[in-house]
Amino acid sequence: MTEKLIIHGGKALRGEVEISSAKNSVLKLMAAALLTGDSVELRNVPHLSDVAVMTQVLKYLGCDVDQQDDDRLYIQARNITSHEAPYDLVRKMRASFDVLGSLLGRFGEARVALPGGCSIGKRSVDLHVKGLIALGAEVEINHGYVEAKATKLVGTEILLDTPSVGATENIMLAATMAEGSTILSNAAQEPEIMDLANFLNAMGADISGAGTNELVINGVKPGSLHGTTYSVMPDRIEAATYLMAAAGTRGEITVNNVLPVHLSSLTHKLMEMGADIEMPTPNSLHLRCDGRLQAQNIVTQPYPGFPTDLQAPFMTLLTISEGVSIVKETIYENRFKQVGELKRMGADISVERDVAVITGVEHLSGAEVNAHDLRAGAAMVIAGIQAKDTTVVYDLHHLDRGYENLVEKLQGIGADIHRVPDDTERPVVEEAV
Ligand code: UD1
Repeated sequence: MTEKLIIHGGKALRGEVEISSAKNSVLKLMAAALLTGDSVELRNVPHLSDVAVMTQVLKYLGCDVDQQDDDRLYIQARNITSHEAPYDLVRKMRASFDVLGSLLGRFGEARVALPGGCSIGKRSVDLHVKGLIALGAEVEINHGYVEAKATKLVGTEILLDTPSVGATENIMLAATMAEGSTILSNAAQEPEIMDLANFLNAMGADISGAGTNELVINGVKPGSLHGTTYSVMPDRIEAATYLMAAAGTRGEITVNNVLPVHLSSLTHKLMEMGADIEMPTPNSLHLRCDGRLQAQNIVTQPYPGFPTDLQAPFMTLLTISEGVSIVKETIYENRFKQVGELKRMGADISVERDVAVITGVEHLSGAEVNAHDLRAGAAMVIAGIQAKDTTVVYDLHHLDRGYENLVEKLQGIGADIHRVPDDTERPVVEEAV
């Protein structure tokens, strides 16, 4: 039975929220665990449907995977029986494409389904493929699969056309097993890249420069990576979602288990809009918002710029801010799917190609809305919490991909939100962000 959220909005959020570990990191660490036959223990692993999908992928390949109730996940890739990740799994979640670099690096061959069309844009994998070819792989695309083979990978200089997160990761994974050094320029600088580099180094890899735009990956000998125990970094996107939810209700919350520097692009914007933000401890942020937020302009950029994953929820805040705001989406060509839903709640938004112009209204009014994708879904939850009256949010499977205990955490800070069975007939739309 599918479910829906019922939100009675208009209450200020107050209290503390414990932030989970990063979905966008743990999935890549799981793929990286394929590089050793030893057992790897990941700690603070969130219970999310995306983690369950990656578990299925790893099990399909022959790994032993065991997630404990207490947030530990054990992976052992000793008896790999397949080098193929099938379409049925990869289409559910683009991050599973990262097994390409690991399988190629460790076994010299991989057959991984193309992630396929995606609802937020083209999301090509050309940079992943070019990087692997530069390392010496032969890569063909046949029948919707990327087929990569290499008798030996050799380190080289690679310049990415654009700092793709996924391409940086796949190249890091393969180059770790290459002979010699790889210098990867215009690399993605996202914190999740640093987490992956730290994890690989804990397994015995030799990667430096993570967090800058140039990575140096010194390849290691086959079979030399070993098991490790590693705690996954906090989820900056989840933390940001709660901060924005509270700001829009003129509330006061503390988010714990965060790395504040990862949230700088958001917290600067929120402060310019009138929120008061402090750092009571090195791992927490306190936000208080007394008055109406002021309009603000954003342009989405690779890290450390304003994250595209926060564009939709941030737009929800802008719909009730005073004045006219402009949002420019530069990363994806189709990431304004929240706009139609927000307009149904009374927002004043016009879109011309990659630019949205938002004229703030006094308040949103509750409506029935769809969570079109993961982050557009977060935008709908924030809208419902801010709005007058009742909002119903459908298509919760998107939210389950990236928000652990969403309802319980929001209830814990005073939101009137409930998850109930949805007996209306609704088609399930798959999406892979
Ligand atoms: C990751 C995140 C996603 C986030 C995105 C950008 C995960 C699981 N997902 O996605 O939440 O929105 O980073 O911060 O970590 N591109 C190409 N060719 C390529 C690869 C990418 O043209 O070979 C383009 C894409 O179409 C997109 C842009 O580069 O327009 C950014 O993509 P990328 O950084 O690769 O995002 P993902 O790793 O897929």
